[in-house]
Amino acid sequence: MHRLLSAVLFAVLTLAAPARAAETYPSRPITVIVPFAAGGPSDAMMRILGEHMRQTLGQPILIENVTGAGGSIGVGRAVHSPPDGYTVSFGHLGTHVANGAVYKLSYDLVADLEPVVLLPSNPMIIVSKTAVPAKSLAELLAWLKAQPTPAAAGTAGNGSGSHIAGLYFEQVTGIKLQYVPYRGTGPALNDLVAGQIDLIVDQTSNSINQVRAGAIRAYAVTDGKRVESAPEVPTTDEAGLPGFHMTLWSGLWVPKGTPKETVARLNQAAVAALNDSDVQKRLKDLGLQMPPQDQLTPDALGAVQRAEIAKWWPMIKAARVSTE
Ligand code: MLT
Repeated sequence: MHRLLSAVLFAVLTLAAPARAAETYPSRPITVIVPFAAGGPSDAMMRILGEHMRQTLGQPILIENVTGAGGSIGVGRAVHSPPDGYTVSFGHLGTHVANGAVYKLSYDLVADLEPVVLLPSNPMIIVSKTAVPAKSLAELLAWLKAQPTPAAAGTAGNGSGSHIAGLYFEQVTGIKLQYVPYRGTGPALNDLVAGQIDLIVDQTSNSINQVRAGAIRAYAVTDGKRVESAPEVPTTDEAGLPGFHMTLWSGLWVPKGTPKETVARLNQAAVAALNDSDVQKRLKDLGLQMPPQDQLTPDALGAVQRAEIAKWWPMIKAARVSTE
């Protein structure tokens, strides 16, 4: 009888453990791994969202910038962390789609991660150092073609969003670029302002303030409509590269096996942040667009990620990017 009672008690406690853990989640600080350097667009977005999520969750949101290999080192760190909701993976089209076409990853971007929530998106923006003697996209293309060697294009590493945007730019223009990898487009932008590199096909949210300050030159945004907070920058359709569209979306993931209740709690805190008017103002001012309300479930992010893998992997693989 004693053994039976012990077995039943053990079973009840074991089965109830995930639910009990989820009830008390979070009971300590949550780390969000941002796979790019501080000061870049990924870091900036997560810090804005994290400030609000901290209030909802009642625990500090600690941002850890784990950089390298186009963001795949940081994502790998998150993937291999305990599935308890205390390590979250921030990523985007580059890290959670393109990286899988560029690197032999130690994880599967879909099978080893649970989607939590789709985050804001933005088109890319073609920007150059002010020393480039071009006042339009057509003049920039002519200048690039006239260079004796390929222009230096800053990226956040092979497989990053800015790198994929560069590959796409090369494909539509036939112009070769020489990529200069950084640990994020924050540092890349600093070198562009300093004139150390020639251009970046950057996230709008990263470059927009330096464009406004006249510290770099903008030629077009990769969308069919202008960015509300940068109305003076034409679209690629208007500027002579019709159809050169690319939207970089971001998202949050946790390791596979994280309890559903924990995923739901994180999702709820992120959605509350996205629906906060102050958070929205700060993000929209950077040229970011909020995800539609019907795209805020974990499944919606999963569907976006799978669709974008189908869309982008063929082009990226055809570019035969070397990771040596
Ligand atoms: C990218 O190019 O993948 C990102 O903009 C990098 C970053 O967020 O620093």
